[in-house]
Amino acid sequence: MAIVISGKELAKNKKMKMKEEVEAYSSLYGRFPHLAVVLVGEDPGSMSYVSGKEKACSEIGILNTTIRKESTISENELLEIIHTLNSDDRVDGILVQLPLPGHIHTESIIQAIRKDKDVDGFHKENVASLYLKQPGIISCTPKGIIELLDSIEYPIEGKRACVLGRSNIVGMPVSKLLLDRNATVTICHSKTKNLASITKEADILVAAIGKPKFVTADMVKDGAVVIDVGVNRDIDTNKLCGDVDFEQVKTKAEYITKVPGGVGPMTICCLMENTIECFLKHVKE
Ligand code: GUN
Repeated sequence: MAIVISGKELAKNKKMKMKEEVEAYSSLYGRFPHLAVVLVGEDPGSMSYVSGKEKACSEIGILNTTIRKESTISENELLEIIHTLNSDDRVDGILVQLPLPGHIHTESIIQAIRKDKDVDGFHKENVASLYLKQPGIISCTPKGIIELLDSIEYPIEGKRACVLGRSNIVGMPVSKLLLDRNATVTICHSKTKNLASITKEADILVAAIGKPKFVTADMVKDGAVVIDVGVNRDIDTNKLCGDVDFEQVKTKAEYITKVPGGVGPMTICCLMENTIECFLKHVKE
């Protein structure tokens, strides 16, 4: 039976350490880190993410401003808000909660965020830095996944990793981070033929395909580490569930993450780390 890697526990410990560091910042640098979050509309998933971010900020002592706007806001109005936050010296990190309403061009909004305030690591210069192995901001979920593997002292080097999903937010960057740690990485997606024959070879299986309970026991190698990035609604119970059929897969895997309580808390924790990183850069400039 698999050991459950608790992102919740790891995040809690990391947040406690961050709190101690942040407490000293006011006397060291004259102010505290400040994260600005922009929430457009009332999507329940987005609202719950944003309240998780607010809670983490207050636990650590990071200042948080959440700007809530109606879904009818125009792209220009939203750009105006970003420009104001970009030029505000007391704001270290800017995050625009996704998805945005259809009439807003998401890419234009992301690129408008100053790259040194882009705590999500979505700006193209930060994405390029990751691929070129140059300093930059690494996006939160991929970073959190590597921290989860490191927390169990899993030797990534030389292992076979399979990433299910090729999104810019998770699949692609986590593949790059695993490759940089000398894993051999295969990226699969919904069009991959004979998927199970590939996933069954993987020592590390990262599921980020956005389909509830998609990964079943027959797709998993005995003793694999299975990381579930999915955030889906179970159609039968309407409860939150991952991309992995946890009950099945826990009998095959050596380590597994759960939804909720696995990758999600680590994403928020890494967002806090990124905010502190941006703050330190700003105050030391
Ligand atoms: N929506 C779901 N996950 C994320 C995230 O990591 N960042 C932003 N900005 N929006 C999201």
